Amino acid sequence: MKIKVGRHKTLSCGNEAATPSPMDRNGERFPGPEPGALQALVKLAFAYSISYRAFVAPSLEGFQETVAVVTGGASGIGRACARTLSKLGSTVAVLDRDMNLAEAVVGDIEQGGGSAFAIHVDVTNENEVTTALERSRLHAGRIDILINSAGATDFYLQSADRLLHEVDIDVWDGMMKVNARGVFLTCKHVIPEMRLRGRGSIVNVSSLMAHAGDERLSAYSASKAAVEALTRSVSIMYGRDGIRCNAVAPGVIITPERGSNPKLEISHLPRIPLQRFGDVADVARLVAFLSSRSADYVTGQVITIDGGLGAQHPWTSPQ
Ligand SMILES: NC(=O)c1ccc[n+]([C@@H]2O[C@H](COP(=O)([O-])OP(=O)(O)OC[C@H]3O[C@@H](n4cnc5c(N)ncnc54)[C@H](O)[C@@H]3O)[C@@H](O)[C@H]2O)c1
Repeated sequence: MKIKVGRHKTLSCGNEAATPSPMDRNGERFPGPEPGALQALVKLAFAYSISYRAFVAPSLEGFQETVAVVTGGASGIGRACARTLSKLGSTVAVLDRDMNLAEAVVGDIEQGGGSAFAIHVDVTNENEVTTALERSRLHAGRIDILINSAGATDFYLQSADRLLHEVDIDVWDGMMKVNARGVFLTCKHVIPEMRLRGRGSIVNVSSLMAHAGDERLSAYSASKAAVEALTRSVSIMYGRDGIRCNAVAPGVIITPERGSNPKLEISHLPRIPLQRFGDVADVARLVAFLSSRSADYVTGQVITIDGGLGAQHPWTSPQ
């Protein structure tokens, strides 16, 4: 029996002489496949299911025994990342300047059967960053994954980031310090260890604001553009050392801490093709994918996660 596989290959299978053909009740041949052909079909189905599992439906693998550091892990997107990575099997170091919230996240993770610990850090301070990373290593043995989610999201900085000619230099520096310097410092002090082990994954949280102008938030968007440039530089500089570095650029994400706001629902929701705001879990799943072995060949990328908001022509009318 010969079966055509693909455009060019033909599989021979079964011992046609030795295998009797199936008969119906009257002793006539069934027109259906012969036993050799059936065996081959079963083999093909099995091979197909393996390749389906390997290439089409990859599971997020490789988190067991890993240690992930999440900056800004006490709240919002960082908190969701910490919880998701712990569910996948990582031990999570929750690094934040707010220790009460960080301890609460650790409590949450431990209640769910995961392993986590909280460490105080101000990501803008180099001494604090080196100490916090050293303490993470002492506690968990090493660092495999770094997620940079700490960001200048506080009300004062965001509301003071107005028209460019009105922006105070402290506001500009404040944005740059947390968003750009913070990512630079954690990368700087985690990379040597990852290089030694020849493996590591870094995911930085940028923003859709880095990709287009707005009537306000010029300092914020410039600082996130710096994060994306840094992401690409790290991927080029350390790819040969087995270190991957990617970024995610979220659109409007409703965090449990801040909730939605009616103004946003009127101004932004109609412009989002998927017709909903993002959830922190949406971002955490993408961050987990980029951190996982399933993304082993992905580096230097910025993946936008915005329900399609940034994909449309400026003149597309709201739905
Ligand atoms: N929520 C959104 O819509 C959205 C959209 C695009 C990008 N982002 C980015 O996602 C990241 C997380 O934002 P979020 O909305 O979850 O905000 P959030 O305010 O809930 O979380 C930010 C966390 O960072 C911590 N943090 C701030 N400054 C710090 C510092 N100097 N040192 C240590 N920790 C510090 C805060 O304590 C807080 O726990 C930020 O980088 C933000 O710019 C958020």
